[in-house]
Amino acid sequence: MIKIAVLPGDGTGPEVVDEGLKVLNAVAQKTGIKYETQRYDFGGERYKKTGEILPDSAVEELRKFDAIYLGAIGHPDVKPGILEKGILLRLRFELDQYINLRPVKLYPGVETPLKDKGPDEIDFVVVRENTEGLYAGSGGTLKKGTLDEVAIQTSINTRKGVERCLRYAFEFTRKRNKDNTLTLCGKTNVLTFAFDLWERTFYEIGNKDYPDIKKDYAHVDATCMWMVKNPEWFDVIVTDNMFGDIITDLGAMIQGGMGIAAGGNINPEGVSMFEPIGGSAPKYTGKNVINPMAAISALQMMLFVLGEEKASDIAEKAIINVLSTKLKSLQAGKMGYSTTEVGDLICEEIAKA
Ligand code: IPM
Ligand code: MN
Repeated sequence: MIKIAVLPGDGTGPEVVDEGLKVLNAVAQKTGIKYETQRYDFGGERYKKTGEILPDSAVEELRKFDAIYLGAIGHPDVKPGILEKGILLRLRFELDQYINLRPVKLYPGVETPLKDKGPDEIDFVVVRENTEGLYAGSGGTLKKGTLDEVAIQTSINTRKGVERCLRYAFEFTRKRNKDNTLTLCGKTNVLTFAFDLWERTFYEIGNKDYPDIKKDYAHVDATCMWMVKNPEWFDVIVTDNMFGDIITDLGAMIQGGMGIAAGGNINPEGVSMFEPIGGSAPKYTGKNVINPMAAISALQMMLFVLGEEKASDIAEKAIINVLSTKLKSLQAGKMGYSTTEVGDLICEEIAKA
């Protein structure tokens, strides 16, 4: 029995999560997977009503699940940072989900803003470190609000944190077995402390334990350039938390937009959390127009990481079929179908499989 905690969250989160769960149900009927879900209402509305963001007891409860399925965090009435830090980042940190896995894959029939690039060229995976770097929350202010104000935000990089992320990326590259190339994305020419650690560890463990994997390096600014100009050069990219955040928004755009981009916050030894990368999209909330594909892809990734590869495969084929034969656009309100209809289309494909 797979136990899944569901956190629909804010804005359009609940709508897209419902479609993902519909798909899970369809896949389970097809494959015989047994699962149960439990919903938690953490998010902006609950915070406004009760002042509670995420109780300690909830974090402990969530540890006991096999996976967490998250919709979106962020509410227009709540100051930016409170919910993001209090729910999303807190769960990533406390559940030690040290990998953020973000595939950048252009499916057939999906429009990309990159001229002359198609599914053969846009197919790589970003492995983002997910618990350290600038996100660790180290820093502070002095003389706040005065002309002498000082603000410091420190990037924390530990040997252990860097090494476990790099090892995951090397193993992932090997398992993916596409070009067997892992690119370290950094900034060794300026961030000479942090990326010195990353680079040394990369070659040290890479040469010793992953001689079969080709090791490549690119600065983060050049990575952005190549992602647009020659995305086909990438197989797997590994990078720190902040750079990973930034380049995966660019990645989302070249794979067709926020409507399709999914990510997994992974603790290989613990409980992982899967989410569409896009935000809570307040202006589309409750209109049945948001694209649920990213949430459905996140669900498919969850099945894969849980080891349900057949189910994941069936779901991905359904996603590909619906994308290439049905949806007019991936943008909210322009799909040619409503949110719930897109979920239904996927379920129909799964039933046919
Ligand atoms: C993401 C988001 C989050 C991040 C925000 C909402 C805190 O942008 O998942 O990429 O910066 O990690
Ligand atoms: Mn982001």
